[in-house]
Amino acid sequence: MNASEYHITTGSPEETRALGRALAGRLRGGEILGLSGDLGSGKTCFVHGLAEGLEVGGNSWVRSPTFTLINEYEGRLPVVHVDLFRVAPGPEMEDLHLEEYFASGSVCVVEWFERLDAAGAQEFMGVHFRYVDEERRALRFAAHGRRYGELVAALKEAR
Ligand SMILES: Nc1ncnc2c1ncn2[C@@H]1O[C@H](COP(=O)(O)OP(=O)(O)O)[C@@H](O)[C@H]1O
Ligand SMILES: [Mg+2]
Repeated sequence: MNASEYHITTGSPEETRALGRALAGRLRGGEILGLSGDLGSGKTCFVHGLAEGLEVGGNSWVRSPTFTLINEYEGRLPVVHVDLFRVAPGPEMEDLHLEEYFASGSVCVVEWFERLDAAGAQEFMGVHFRYVDEERRALRFAAHGRRYGELVAALKEAR
């Protein structure tokens, strides 16, 4: 396994949330978390754990942002949650001006990150989700950039 990657299979939604919480504890603001993987593979579940870990109030975090595209929350750090499922690449994507969020100092977590044309342009933590069976999901954390390498190392240590 590549040193900048961490692979883990979770056996329940709670385990996936726990990974989100574990990562949240290591964030200091301004990180980009790029989530990919099929519908139902656990991306939003992970984001819920991340939000718990960042102390985002339960009432302000009740849904996937699929229909609103971008939601912002205040926890221990400001959080921006983006879901690109319904956004076509090209002008529609550019109109979201995600680069401004990325530069804002908020924790930016983006579902369907692979749809972002400019995904290669900045450093980020990739988290890929794969459906294994009804209860299990295989997660692959991949650091793109030094800061994210530290986060991957911290996640491994937390095990
Ligand atoms: N190990 C697991 N991790 C995450 N979700 C799981 C797991 N096992 C079952 N599930 C279920 O899979 C679904 C994942 O949905 P969701 O997080 O919305 O996926 P996505 O955002 O990738 O479309 C939920 O219904 C959840 O209860
Ligand atoms: Mg989702």
